[in-house]
Amino acid sequence: MSGELTPGEFKSCCASFYADDVVRRILGDSFHPGGEALTLELLDAVKAGPDDDLLDVATGPGASAVLAARKKGCRVTGVDLSTENLARTGALAKERGVADLVTVREADAERLPFEDGSFDVVLCECAFCTFVDKTTAAREMARVLRPGGRLALSDMTLETDAFPEDLDTLLMRVACISDAVPGERLEAFFSDEGFVDLETGDARWALHEMVEDIRGRLLAVELASKLGKIDLGGIDVQEGKRMARRSIEIIEDGTVGYVTLTGRLPAR
Ligand SMILES: C[S@@+](CC[C@H](N)C(=O)[O-])C[C@H]1O[C@@H](n2cnc3c(N)ncnc32)[C@H](O)[C@@H]1O
Repeated sequence: MSGELTPGEFKSCCASFYADDVVRRILGDSFHPGGEALTLELLDAVKAGPDDDLLDVATGPGASAVLAARKKGCRVTGVDLSTENLARTGALAKERGVADLVTVREADAERLPFEDGSFDVVLCECAFCTFVDKTTAAREMARVLRPGGRLALSDMTLETDAFPEDLDTLLMRVACISDAVPGERLEAFFSDEGFVDLETGDARWALHEMVEDIRGRLLAVELASKLGKIDLGGIDVQEGKRMARRSIEIIEDGTVGYVTLTGRLPAR
């Protein structure tokens, strides 16, 4: 965790970062590698369907919450710390005709405001690495699931003790990437909470694709700013381009990765 920020400041910085308009332009509609394709892979793996109450933890702008409602008919609750993103989720659900299936609520993943055993499926994409207290977040996910409830998660992994020094900037910390853990450790957070049949899948392709997309969008944002069409605020596009180049290197050498993780709680 960042030495410069308290846990509260870190969470609020992370939420504001992902609510920023320029950041949205750079990341696109969905804030996780693999987009809809990887979300559908996860939903299929846990057999999400119309009988399921699904909790999307750290739903961001809601692309996955809305997808789970549209394609699988799940009753979805999306929680996030960012009210701006929750408003986007609500608007998207309305626009796509699934407002009756999607509810949003401002909440911290480490203190979920739900009774024990409220959900059948917990979805959490590219967000576990951002949680300050990962043990508590995993425990909360287990608590709100019913017996037999399923976990569908994807996340960044970091297969080294130290994040590469030249990338360990405040931006990377606030973008919440530098607090990722190795794949084995990620799985252990959930086995410790009683999840069984845990399966980790390699989705590094999705990370590679996302960084390439981001590189393209950074160029578009740079052009729009040169033409005076957008205000970059505090975003340093040159630094973003450098980090994107370096990110490709550390994906290729295996320092960072992206994985899917599915599992379930025992039926009783
Ligand atoms: C990389 S985005 C992923 C968003 C979404 N899951 C997706 O795939 O598009 C990370 C999200 O985690 C949210 N977040 C970070 N820490 C959180 C916490 N402790 N509780 C709830 N949401 C949190 C941020 O506000 C942000 O929307």
